Amino acid sequence: MPSMHLFTFGILALLLPNAIAAPTSNTAAYAVKERHDAPQGWTKITSPVEYQTISLQIALKQQNSDALTKIALEVSDPSHPRYGQYLSAKQLLGHGIDTAALSSTRDWINVDLPVHKVESLLNTTYFNYRYTDGSTLVRTSEWSLPVYLHGYVDLIQPTTSFFRTPRPLIRPTHEHVPMRRHQREDLLETMPNDASGSSACNISKLCDPTETSLRCLRCLYGTMNYTAQVPERNMIGVTSYHGSVQRRSDIRQYLKKFRPEAVEVADTFPIVFTADVPHHQKNSTDPTDLAEADMDAELAIGISWPTSFMAWSTGEDFIEWMVYVLAQDSLPQVISTSWGANEHTWPLATTTRLCDGYKELGVRGVSLIFASGDAGVAGVRDESCGSEFHPTFPASCPWITAVGATKGFEPEVAVSAYGSGAGFSNHFAMPKYQVDAVHGYLEGIGDMHAGMYNRSGRAYPDVAAQGALTTIVTSGIKTSNSGTSASAPIFAAVIALVNDARIAAGKPVLGFLNPWIYGAASAAFTDVEDGSSVGCDTDGFPAADGWDAVTGFGTPNFDRLIEAAFSVFET
Ligand SMILES: *[C@@H]1O[C@H](CO)[C@@H](O)[C@H](O)[C@H]1NC(C)=O
Ligand SMILES: *[C@@H]1O[C@H](CO)[C@@H](O)[C@H](O)[C@H]1NC(C)=O
Ligand SMILES: *[C@@H]1O[C@H](CO)[C@@H](O)[C@H](O)[C@H]1NC(C)=O
Ligand SMILES: *[C@@H]1O[C@H](CO)[C@@H](O)[C@H](O)[C@H]1NC(C)=O
Ligand SMILES: *[C@@H]1O[C@H](CO)[C@@H](O)[C@H](O)[C@H]1NC(C)=O
Repeated sequence: MPSMHLFTFGILALLLPNAIAAPTSNTAAYAVKERHDAPQGWTKITSPVEYQTISLQIALKQQNSDALTKIALEVSDPSHPRYGQYLSAKQLLGHGIDTAALSSTRDWINVDLPVHKVESLLNTTYFNYRYTDGSTLVRTSEWSLPVYLHGYVDLIQPTTSFFRTPRPLIRPTHEHVPMRRHQREDLLETMPNDASGSSACNISKLCDPTETSLRCLRCLYGTMNYTAQVPERNMIGVTSYHGSVQRRSDIRQYLKKFRPEAVEVADTFPIVFTADVPHHQKNSTDPTDLAEADMDAELAIGISWPTSFMAWSTGEDFIEWMVYVLAQDSLPQVISTSWGANEHTWPLATTTRLCDGYKELGVRGVSLIFASGDAGVAGVRDESCGSEFHPTFPASCPWITAVGATKGFEPEVAVSAYGSGAGFSNHFAMPKYQVDAVHGYLEGIGDMHAGMYNRSGRAYPDVAAQGALTTIVTSGIKTSNSGTSASAPIFAAVIALVNDARIAAGKPVLGFLNPWIYGAASAAFTDVEDGSSVGCDTDGFPAADGWDAVTGFGTPNFDRLIEAAFSVFET
């Protein structure tokens, strides 16, 4: 077996234009490496233009995947002596896990080639496929590699991956309320200052179910009186896709009104563009994309301020962001993403590789928070399901924390205007940390929806937070928007403050959260017991006492989370 390093050069040599003749020579026997038919809704239409460029991403098999899993479990397990002993990118290299940037990496190769060369290299034929909404992709349903390379390559994309670019999990609202009638600069003067007044936390006074304010959220989840102690050593980040990016003037308006002490952040937070990516040519002008980016930043800053904040703006796909982030030496300790797609639109090899990347971020001590989807058991959006529920990804990856949505107060219940994304993965087995909680739940529901979901799969969401008519400012307008899009940054921001307390006490941050959530922290949430994950023309899964496939363990209670964060790992 050649060393991975030499092998990389072998692959690169194969990719060089003058080596492209290989597939037609008889020296290399080809065999199909992956087959994944276009999912429902996609129609093969025409052949692509021969010279259209495809930006191929090739993932080489990781050598020490089992070792990585072992480390990831140990550093995230509160009962393990190694808990909290995260590894830096450099230390990971020492374990043979290479996360260097694309150009120099040994486990990811990125190369731009014209379609006809890719077709020859992979002995395949690409087609333009059209989705029901008119969008198109250049894809194929199977591709091949010389047999001797099969053991070295995990995946090559774009080939069979039909996931539509991830969707922002925000639900557009038609209830746009003008922020003000005259000039925007008058905002503070002309509108009552929402953040003023006593710090008294009276939920029935602060919380309006038609307009969930920042103050309400801070009161409800108990962070209102907490003063961050080490903001310069603690950071929260949010990720935006489709080339969407926050509008600083929106963030400024929002903070001015709802968290005036934080207003400067609007003009200073870093927005990092995942550089040199072919898909990322322009900032998205889609108002839904903008609302998503604005909402994520406003809620994350609004709750976690003065904790440091940053945003990424990324192109079309999850791989690109992951490869970029894995190569960075320094990362925020909490990262929230409110974008996702249905799991079945990706081939297994791709979700597996992405989930491995998230695991690696767990080893680095990063808490990854993802929205669970806005169509209950149907996935990210309402669509016909046939005889099967549709889990969403990345929520279905067992190495991240998935957040469902609630509405109402005293008590909070699962959202009902849409289904809080929930279900069971078909790609990932149920991880050990959740077996007890989920089996208890499955026993409770008996044979409800039997055959429509995978009882042995990773179950989600893990937790929940408000996701109904949340007040934001976008495109200069104050609106109330719904979606698990709100839930994820709210939850992430609460965790960022728990990390603040940990760092201030000289202790490591929480890192990959789930073993802690399903263990020491399982009682640190306000259980949600009403509602269900409506979708696929069914009521979906019902909320229940304890963990359930609608709201997980429930919504955060800051004081109890702090207690749970200090009751474990004395090291
Ligand atoms: C390429 O695939 C076709 C079938 O699509 C097959 O007939 C042919 O033998 C393959 N070529 C190689 C070099 O394996
Ligand atoms: C914050 O402290 C004030 C005064 O001690 C108290 O009235 C209020 O309820 C507290 N708020 C929260 C969210 O605990
Ligand atoms: C909370 O607010 C409600 C409605 O304004 C009021 O009726 C109630 O007395 C308040 N409770 C406290 C403890 O101040
Ligand atoms: C995209 O948005 C960022 C941040 O607002 C801005 O700095 C940049 O110039 C924009 N790029 C384009 C191509 O419009
Ligand atoms: C159910 O999930 C397991 C992983 O836990 C997977 O191996 C299996 O293929 C899934 N079944 C279906 C029908 O997708």
